[in-house]
Amino acid sequence: MTNTLKILIVYYSQTGNTEKMARAVEEGAKSVVGIEVEVKYFARPEELADADAIILGMPTYYHDIGMDMKSLLEGAANQEINLKGKVGAAFGSYGWSGEAPNMILEILKNRFEMDVVEPALRIKYNPDKKGLEECRKLGKTVAEKTLKISLS
Ligand SMILES: Cc1cc2nc3c(=O)[nH]c(=O)nc-3n(C[C@H](O)[C@H](O)[C@H](O)COP(=O)(O)O)c2cc1C
Repeated sequence: MTNTLKILIVYYSQTGNTEKMARAVEEGAKSVVGIEVEVKYFARPEELADADAIILGMPTYYHDIGMDMKSLLEGAANQEINLKGKVGAAFGSYGWSGEAPNMILEILKNRFEMDVVEPALRIKYNPDKKGLEECRKLGKTVAEKTLKISLS
């Protein structure tokens, strides 16, 4: 038997759309046996090291990633937190351009050398039933991938 694997979901949301996505991603990840999921609105860089997989949720404001998420990523880089090989994914609500999730996924892949699930999941404004299903699917995909890697 393997130990319980941990997925950390860190998200930001100003008007609740990305938050709804985060809850659905959580649901999907939790549907996989042997996976523990923690959802946080704010995290310290060291907390990333404790997780087997990291999923970051970020809406796009002003074509950019929000400050808290930038600080988290910069902090992890400055502290040389090793995330190499961990499973990573990104999602976020957007209105018209939706850069933030793509930028985050690019950083997880290129700077931290994480094993990312591509593409980032982006949903326009309020996620509908189909959108929430996509979020559950992302959570499940990350969980299954994490499980698979731990067994290999
Ligand atoms: C001031 C402001 C700036 C925004 N800038 C962008 C933008 O540059 N690109 C984009 O795709 N959406 C932009 N949006 C739309 C938001 O991404 C969208 O409303 C999203 O659903 C917000 O997610 P949240 O509810 O998780 O905060 C902007 C919204 C506001 C209010």
